Amino acid sequence: MKTHRHLSLKRKSLSNVLLFVLALTVVPLTLSQTPSATAPLDDAAVRQRADALLRQMTLDEKIGQLSQLFDFRKEQATDDAVAKGQLGSLLFVTDPAEINRLQHLAVDQTRLHIPLIFGFDVIHGFRTIFPVPIAMAASWDPSAATKAQTIAAKEARSVGIDWAFAPMLDIARDPRWGRIVEGAGEDPYLGSAMAAAQVRGFQGDYIGSPDHILACMKHFAGYGAAVGGRDYDEAFIPETLLYNVYLKPFHAAVKAGIGSAMSAYLDLNDVPATGNRWLLHDVLRDDWKFTGFVVSDANSVKSLQNHGYAKDVYESALYAFNAGVNMEMALGFTAYSKSLAMAVERKQITVQQIEDAARPILEMKIRLGLFEHPYVDEARARQVLASPEHRIASRLAAERTAVLLRNEGSLLPLKKNAYKKIAVLGPLADSQVDTLGSWVFQQDLAETITVLAGLRNKLGAQAELSYAPGVQIRRKIPSFFDAIFNLKSQPVWTPEQSKDEMSKAVTLANSSDLTILVLGEAQNMSGEAASRESLDLPGDEENLLEAVAATGKPIVLVLLNGRPLNIKWAAEHVLAILDAWYPGTQGGNAVANLLFGDAIPGGKLPITWPRDVGQIPIYYAHNTTQAPENQGKRYWDEESTPLYPFGYGLSYSNFTFSNLKLSRSEITPGESIDVSVDVENTDASAADEVAQLYIHQQYGSASRPVRELKGFERITLAAHEKKTVHFSLGNDELTYWSKATKSWVEEPAAFDVWVGPDSNASLHANFNIRH
Ligand code: NOJ
Repeated sequence: MKTHRHLSLKRKSLSNVLLFVLALTVVPLTLSQTPSATAPLDDAAVRQRADALLRQMTLDEKIGQLSQLFDFRKEQATDDAVAKGQLGSLLFVTDPAEINRLQHLAVDQTRLHIPLIFGFDVIHGFRTIFPVPIAMAASWDPSAATKAQTIAAKEARSVGIDWAFAPMLDIARDPRWGRIVEGAGEDPYLGSAMAAAQVRGFQGDYIGSPDHILACMKHFAGYGAAVGGRDYDEAFIPETLLYNVYLKPFHAAVKAGIGSAMSAYLDLNDVPATGNRWLLHDVLRDDWKFTGFVVSDANSVKSLQNHGYAKDVYESALYAFNAGVNMEMALGFTAYSKSLAMAVERKQITVQQIEDAARPILEMKIRLGLFEHPYVDEARARQVLASPEHRIASRLAAERTAVLLRNEGSLLPLKKNAYKKIAVLGPLADSQVDTLGSWVFQQDLAETITVLAGLRNKLGAQAELSYAPGVQIRRKIPSFFDAIFNLKSQPVWTPEQSKDEMSKAVTLANSSDLTILVLGEAQNMSGEAASRESLDLPGDEENLLEAVAATGKPIVLVLLNGRPLNIKWAAEHVLAILDAWYPGTQGGNAVANLLFGDAIPGGKLPITWPRDVGQIPIYYAHNTTQAPENQGKRYWDEESTPLYPFGYGLSYSNFTFSNLKLSRSEITPGESIDVSVDVENTDASAADEVAQLYIHQQYGSASRPVRELKGFERITLAAHEKKTVHFSLGNDELTYWSKATKSWVEEPAAFDVWVGPDSNASLHANFNIRH
């Protein structure tokens, strides 16, 4: 570490001496990263430190802070750029030794010793993989999401990653879109609760909390509405839908104190999100008072050209910068590094604007404690990553997220000694990578517990387990992730092999007392660039299912999936269906516990489950129509109701809802009503139920959805226990964005209230708002 770094400053004026003192407070010490501040830093002090730095920085150094590059492999060009202060951040470096090496380049070799901030896609775990985000939403338990992201943050931070590109807050109402797996489903209320919960998990009580990292809400905004469910395609979302649905979880994250946002890839209403000043400035900064920084999605600044929005790289940089993108994420080079200095020279932007863009980035580095603790302790990292408690937490999360879709004749829970021979079949039954889901890179694959392994752990010598994949599934068009991350694909079976494997599986089913069939999608069939035009079970899975069912033996279908699939046939013919999503590192143990009753399913669908792809888009919060009594009869070739409604999920217990009470039948705007309901477990074992409250505004300056979720609580009830659950309906729940007035309104109207176990809840009451 150089000791003469600020000597020249000493000779300058008094104010510069003051600056020098301030600057000293940001000079990094070579301490390892046992982050961070034990209390939130004072806003004014953070700003002063950032400004003190900015005053010393050259234009190029300031612009350097605005650039972020991928660093998949050690490259000399990256090292050089870091050492010259041309980069503020790197992403996709995950080895703590390499992070330390690069951080030393930044800290030791740059003029002002400004550390890098390392970002990574910490989506549902780092080493310990948790259930995928859509599964976490199915827990209807925000505290479970907080716990999972707290652990993910701790593991990531231990290796030197300071910034997660999560949570993904895109509302998705089209399961063809592959990235539906990364979000919380279709509903803005549930999505907002999950958004805030994840921000708390990643960031802790404040940005800079020990063992926590900066969160980044993405993809701002509207990405989930891509036309046709085709990833990256444009979206046209009316202002009312943006405010009332798509933007809600993002606003919730801002209210929860999120420190960064990622601009989306898509073209929104004819203006690409990355060049969209209305979105990134007017809404985000002016209306919501967001004070963090915006990073572009990968290459989305340069893509402004591809959209036919900018003329060239220079204009792309200018438009994104003026729209409010602070930092550009890119592969190879950033448009910012090539263009912003020139834009200053041409007086198209000012140095002041560059400083305003760089300041929140520096502020986050200060808050995260990177100046004081730029390096990580590799030995500690190894310890943190190996934590057995993290694995237990992952199993518990997987048990909490599974949704029991069907259980005819109470086939489940299975009795441990009732089945001597069990066939475990299906291409996903013993596939580790497919148990994890997409967006995992740092897992220890060998420790991943598949469903087959989980059943073996559970049953030991108690039952004879046999296994066959039965069929092979793969994408017709390979995923670019397969190439980037070297995912090995199995050799493709010949037609003869396929026949043999299928008949082997059916023979095993025939000679067993029970079949546990694990079907769904391989992990690369769901996620980024993983959209589908069909929701059918991939490949020959449906044939395997029907052939195994034809044996007449009892079948339990376990689904591994990131989206609802077409299981119409199974929903009529298979006795038990458990949706386990992609359950993570401990998935198989969780599934085994659930199937054998050592854990009781309590998850609920965060998305309407269509019967078939042709029903899409289908979501519960649609508007009232002119013939509501015929809502289920809009098609002549199929019912227009979903296979399973939003909020649906069974338990091994039964529950009743009764005694719905409203504290008042009339309020004026701004007042609140207490809603209470009794929930009773009518069975002999403890289990969870999710009490869900929906409202409907019967008339007003806009037609409102038939139902909107406005409250929920997951509760555990002992055998035969009854609890009263309370909800509050006030301004937050009763206000919506009205096109008529272009404002948020709470209108005089009559309202319906329903409370129950899903979005078809029947227990009903009314109230009015009068002015
Ligand atoms: C592109 C994806 O859209 C985004 O979600 C991700 O965070 C970045 N790449 C970085 O990997």
